[in-house]
Amino acid sequence: MKILGKIKRKLDVKKQLNNKSKEYENRFDECAFKGNKCSNFEQYEAVITRWYHTIEKGLAYVNFRAGFGKNNMDSLLETMDNYIKDGYDENAFFFQTSLSVIQKYIRKNAEFGVKVPTIEDRIKRLPGVANNYGGIIKFEPLDEKELQSLNYKDFICNRHSMRHFSSEPVDMEKLKAALKLAQYTPSACNRQGWSAVVVNDKKILAEVLKNQNGNEGFGQEFDKLLLLVADLSFFNHDRELFQPYIDGGMYAQSVLNALHFYHIAAVPLSASLTEQQEKHVRRLLSLNEAEVLIMFIGIGNYPDICQTTRSERRTPKYRIV
Ligand SMILES: Cc1cc2nc3c(=O)[nH]c(=O)nc-3n(C[C@H](O)[C@H](O)[C@H](O)COP(=O)(O)O)c2cc1C
Repeated sequence: MKILGKIKRKLDVKKQLNNKSKEYENRFDECAFKGNKCSNFEQYEAVITRWYHTIEKGLAYVNFRAGFGKNNMDSLLETMDNYIKDGYDENAFFFQTSLSVIQKYIRKNAEFGVKVPTIEDRIKRLPGVANNYGGIIKFEPLDEKELQSLNYKDFICNRHSMRHFSSEPVDMEKLKAALKLAQYTPSACNRQGWSAVVVNDKKILAEVLKNQNGNEGFGQEFDKLLLLVADLSFFNHDRELFQPYIDGGMYAQSVLNALHFYHIAAVPLSASLTEQQEKHVRRLLSLNEAEVLIMFIGIGNYPDICQTTRSERRTPKYRIV
């Protein structure tokens, strides 16, 4: 009888797990945007922000390539056209920011003697007024002492994703100190079910980056690459299907802040890979079965003058119930 009870409980847990993952999959399938097709305001906000961000990235490259990003610009303008056709608000912050990015794209290309008349024509036909929140920021990096004396608010606002680095290697001791600091990330029952793979071998680094979509034009400047992983062995089978990604995500933010604290320039890179890409990365870095990918971080040292995407933040969204 006892054995039967145990088996039943095991089957129940397995069923719950299946239901939970199936339910999430259905919800994701239903709600996530698909390509440039948008069926609600939030999807438009995401798709437009995503495309204008790629243009901001191009504007921030030190070796600016005039006329870059034609396809992305085309997707951006098409989505903005559809947004207006669907009757959404031209005064929405992200829409105005997107207009601002496109204007800056036109201006920057003109500085390089390249005209983009089709884009100019299309943006003229869009309603709305550009704000001044799109484009890039330029700054001189603070030194380590200055960084470490900032208050929390200034410290957080002073961190930026860097996509250009000096050729000086990252001091391994500093990196170790940053990883030690990031260990203070809170986690469910303090289990700390994460770890970092530090890719120091340049050949492996280059191979891994071939399987990541967002590092084109700057990945070759990384001194090292981190892959943050969560370890499924640390999580409870009956309820914690998503907990590895929650704890892992919190760890990822802590690592970014800790790198910043130790004056290591960094850019987070998505580890949402295709099946094939993930297979390659798993093989290249000898990940074990229990490890799931959370995020990559490209690191290096700051150049003398930094420029990066402005990546303006919208006002916080919250509701009180
Ligand atoms: C999970 C995650 C994935 C990201 N992936 C990429 C990427 O693949 N390529 C890239 O250049 N930036 C990537 N970023 C950096 C974002 O573009 C950046 O964090 C955002 O624009 C905010 O800018 P900030 O980091 O300078 O504040 C990623 C950030 C996160 C958190």
